[in-house]
Amino acid sequence: MQRLAPALREDNVPLDLISLIKTILAATKEISFRVSQAHLGGLMGSTLDENIQGEVQKKLDVVANELFKDILLESGFVKAISSEEEDTSVGGDKDGKFIVSFDPLDGSSNIDINSLIGTIFSIHEAPKDAEPSDPDMFKQSGNRQVCAGYVLYGPSTMLVMTTGSGTHFYVLDRTHGGYLLVERNVQVPQDTQEFAINMSNQRFWQEPMQNYISDLLAGDTGPRGKNFNMRWIAAMVGDIHRVLTRGGLFTYPSDNRNPEKPYKLRLMYEANPMSFLIEQAGGLAMTSEGRIMDIEPSDIHQRVEVIMGSKNEVEACLGYYK
Ligand code: F6P
Ligand code: MN
Repeated sequence: MQRLAPALREDNVPLDLISLIKTILAATKEISFRVSQAHLGGLMGSTLDENIQGEVQKKLDVVANELFKDILLESGFVKAISSEEEDTSVGGDKDGKFIVSFDPLDGSSNIDINSLIGTIFSIHEAPKDAEPSDPDMFKQSGNRQVCAGYVLYGPSTMLVMTTGSGTHFYVLDRTHGGYLLVERNVQVPQDTQEFAINMSNQRFWQEPMQNYISDLLAGDTGPRGKNFNMRWIAAMVGDIHRVLTRGGLFTYPSDNRNPEKPYKLRLMYEANPMSFLIEQAGGLAMTSEGRIMDIEPSDIHQRVEVIMGSKNEVEACLGYYK
């Protein structure tokens, strides 16, 4: 099995980006260890604080964020970072070539049940003349990502990453402390009989999504003519990992629970990196109006509708919006 750096060199990834990726992975190894020890180290449960999204922060969210942020800002490779757990971007090195957006611990509600969680990251180039304190640097579309990935803290710690030459799987080999390439050029099957959605929100969805899901539920006697299975891990990293591994459709559609907040997932550090991974694996990553990665962001914490996964199934779903 190939080690990470040679695998990246084979994809012609520039050396400075490889160095940044290694820095990110150093942080994830530390987070992986802290996650495994959380109960023993008194890191279960919530803090008394809320993040900018109005979500109560878990103790482990805060630890993972501090670790990730400190390692990146000390590295010299990044001009600024932005995180789900930070109100605004945080400046780094003036000469840093990159900016990194991240969700330090995705799926926080799974922390206390010892279930799947992960770290999601997205890397863009930093504009040369921008000041490290300028949050506008982050207003770049997903198309301009130079690297995206996530690390899943599951039964094994797994890295899934793309630098634009396919999506590859790596596993953390604890015997030598590095990530090893286990699958190159993963492909999402084009067809699927599996979908992931939080069904408890059904009454709040728009009509096209209501109709689409009801046709899936109708099974082999309904208009789709086949039975569908449903899975919901409640951590995007877990659900997307399943889709990348065996196909499926993952959606967090728009809903009318709160007219001020029609979408749940965040563009910069959830939807964009996952879209890059899914598209590089031959899948589709859309809103009901177009490609997620075409969106020109207006805010680092902006939210977006997400419909992604197996190509033919995403197209079938979008057909209901026409
Ligand atoms: O980060 C947001 C998130 O936790 C995702 O990881 C996950 O897909 C979704 O929210 C879960 O939503 P819900 O709480 O509706 O199940
Ligand atoms: Mn998240």
